[in-house]
Amino acid sequence: MTAGHEPRLAGKVVLVAGAGSSAAGWSIGKASCVTMARQGAAIVALDSQREAAEDAAHEVEKAGGSALPVQADVADPAAMQAAVDAALRRYGRIDVLQANAGIGKVGGPEDISLEDWDRIQQVNVSSLLIATRLLAPLMREQGGGAIVTVSSVAGIRYTGYPHLAYSVSKAAVIHFARMAAQQYAADRIRVNTVIPGLIDTPRVAKNVARMFDADARAASAARDRQVPMGRMGTPWEVANAVAFLASDEASYITGTELLVDGGLTGKYA
Ligand SMILES: NC(=O)c1ccc[n+]([C@@H]2O[C@H](COP(=O)([O-])OP(=O)(O)OC[C@H]3O[C@@H](n4cnc5c(N)ncnc54)[C@H](O)[C@@H]3O)[C@@H](O)[C@H]2O)c1
Repeated sequence: MTAGHEPRLAGKVVLVAGAGSSAAGWSIGKASCVTMARQGAAIVALDSQREAAEDAAHEVEKAGGSALPVQADVADPAAMQAAVDAALRRYGRIDVLQANAGIGKVGGPEDISLEDWDRIQQVNVSSLLIATRLLAPLMREQGGGAIVTVSSVAGIRYTGYPHLAYSVSKAAVIHFARMAAQQYAADRIRVNTVIPGLIDTPRVAKNVARMFDADARAASAARDRQVPMGRMGTPWEVANAVAFLASDEASYITGTELLVDGGLTGKYA
């Protein structure tokens, strides 16, 4: 924000789905809640874990913003309907959806169970259908809106280890957004995707610790070295990209992706 100008998300209501953090610290969803609140938005902090939703809402309030914590599973249509109803009772409108909830399980075609595969597609992909169906009619009636989906470099590249169900789901996230963008362009509903690279969130730190046990620090340093910029990204750097795409500054941007990866995917090896 520059002096004398309105914050870029003033008056907007943003629903962040997957607003919490799966371990203590700053996740992409939580950093996005606070970043967009600082830019003037009211935040609906939705998470399947009640404490995670409450924690994100608390951080927004600490930053001087307004937030409603809501517990809902993004893959459950009835719970999402109830969450949208609660958001409308509190704020009267929803201008932006950040579809941030994501889960995965390491493994290739012969490792992953069908149950795990299905659950990953439901949480990462079917959730987009559920939320879009609920919110697009509302946004259309309000005269427009923005949907920002969160994919991953795993959705466009092999990242060096098998993560098949997650990778396929994150590829689908990108194409869902492209297709929905075409469908809703005339309704002034923009749909774009942020593609984070290697981001230093508590979930990643936890996974790295689990995979490499005592040598978590060395594994984290190895992730830093993979990136042309020499470091993992912060959740705040992803949040800034989300906030831009959510805002009217991105008014002519729809059906595309914004890579936030420190140069990672442009690299040869
Ligand atoms: N951290 C990275 O390096 C990285 C890289 C690329 C993409 N991403 C993507 O960014 C997003 C956030 O990642 P993060 O590392 O901050 O993750 P995180 O696990 O810390 O946060 C995700 C939040 O989503 C919630 N959630 C999970 N399943 C849910 C469901 N069914 N319904 C509602 N909420 C649910 C979790 O409780 C958690 O609070 C994910 O979509 C992830 O795939 C992360």
